[in-house]
Amino acid sequence: MAKQEDLFKNVVSHAKEYGFIFPSSEIYDGLSAVYDYAQNGVELKKNIREYWWKSMVQMHENIVGLDAAILMHPTTWKASGHVDAFNDPLIDNKDSKKRYRADVLIEDYAEKLNIKAQKEIEKARARFGDAFNEQEFITTNPRVVEYLSKKNEILARMAKSLDAGDLDDVKLLIEELEIACPDSGSRNWTEVRQFNLMFGTKLGASADTAMDLYLRPETAQGIFVNFLNVQKTGRMKIPFGIAQTGKAFRNEIVARQFIFRMREFEQMEMQFFVKPGEEMKWYEYWKTTRLNWHKSLGLGAENYRFHDHEKLAHYANAAADIEFNFPFGFKELEGIHSRTDFDLKAHEQFSGKKLQYFDTEENKNYVPYVVETSVGLDRMFLAVFSKALQEETLEDGSTRTVLRLPSVLAPTKAAVLPLVKKDGLPEIAKEIMEELKWDFNVAYDEKDAVGRRYRRQDALGTPFCITVDHQTVEDKTVTIRHRDTMLQERVAITDLKNIIDKEVSVRNWLMKM
Ligand code: GAP
Repeated sequence: MAKQEDLFKNVVSHAKEYGFIFPSSEIYDGLSAVYDYAQNGVELKKNIREYWWKSMVQMHENIVGLDAAILMHPTTWKASGHVDAFNDPLIDNKDSKKRYRADVLIEDYAEKLNIKAQKEIEKARARFGDAFNEQEFITTNPRVVEYLSKKNEILARMAKSLDAGDLDDVKLLIEELEIACPDSGSRNWTEVRQFNLMFGTKLGASADTAMDLYLRPETAQGIFVNFLNVQKTGRMKIPFGIAQTGKAFRNEIVARQFIFRMREFEQMEMQFFVKPGEEMKWYEYWKTTRLNWHKSLGLGAENYRFHDHEKLAHYANAAADIEFNFPFGFKELEGIHSRTDFDLKAHEQFSGKKLQYFDTEENKNYVPYVVETSVGLDRMFLAVFSKALQEETLEDGSTRTVLRLPSVLAPTKAAVLPLVKKDGLPEIAKEIMEELKWDFNVAYDEKDAVGRRYRRQDALGTPFCITVDHQTVEDKTVTIRHRDTMLQERVAITDLKNIIDKEVSVRNWLMKM
């Protein structure tokens, strides 16, 4: 565990030291759970967004994009259910004065039971080797059966109480499980209360006429209210999708873990409109497609898993998370939700306007069903960045810090380095850079010994270093060094563009899906 915490600390400090992420308004001591993306972070974030956009919009002829406003008519949020139901149950510890999400305290307790069960399973696997039958062990080993059934019982009771709005029972459960404040160890808890996560704001100049608005807590509703506009003007035929990336805001009670849970964050969402009755087919399709998209980045298939929801949101008839193995364990990265016709029907009801599709094949109108894919851009950033950051011990015993970002996402694709600052080498290096910058983000660096410059680019995740030396003057060749293998090869300047392109092109990466 300590090792994981160290890894996470390294992620946060590396992100700052190398110009990826800064705390917001840091000179005023920052703003809790709000972050700024710095010169390298903004490039990485843009590349993730583009990788998503290309795979969803450019590669699907039946998916189009949208950029709806952050501010929406307030009735939107009444219709969507966010005014009444977008709540988290919170609880305070009277001694430490710390505030927690009651459901997260209980889930963390349940996860500890799960970890205990997994440890028993791993011990048995090591003991029995190839003869080990995991399924049989899980159902027959008394300790594992006890851990897992207790875990399931706790989660089921919590889900039932939350569904019924029985917050007294949620508190009772915390007391029965003897859950203590992680900060102080105290069990002196307040009652559990519901807390709405939407940020309010006002539209209008004078206080008495100003209209109360919300900052959108999800981008999805901008898509729903534009469903018919897009369908008609784009002559879209069902099934079709509308994709959008943009900021969302949530007044999270407990915002921890760096950019994992933020108060201002960015979502990449797609709503796929389908014929009623066909939603489960598309739900399975999008689960598989989105998992393959994640896997195409090469961070390791073992780092992803599905978590099918037992407790469904008010709008869903099926839902699953794609979880990722973050430095603090498996957590939600993306949600795939079968949202039924809940949203469109609710907007019809609240606006009085029809939001129906005329199906020419069936010769009838209906409200389409919706399958949604929703991934947090900042969470994607954290997933990619935390897996990419590695400390390596080299053959000579020295260590290097290398950010093995998927090269398609790397902020800078190549750094051009003159070996020395004289003999015409900087001029050639700048010429190379001038040529490459039409196609790629490239950097120029002539400061320090070349070895140190390599290490700096390794830490920034730059896939290639191109070194201009005295031989370059003679024969117009350079060395190109590969970040991951550190191998260097001598190539013609005229071949550089193709070499880099082959490695970083979105096409080559998405083809792995
Ligand atoms: N439209 C559906 C929706 O918003 P969600 O599960 O609440 O569903 C979708 O959010 C995704 O948005 C999550 O899987 C996560 O990646 C991201 N997300 C949600 N809350 C976040 C937060 N406070 N900070 C960063 N990312 C967040």
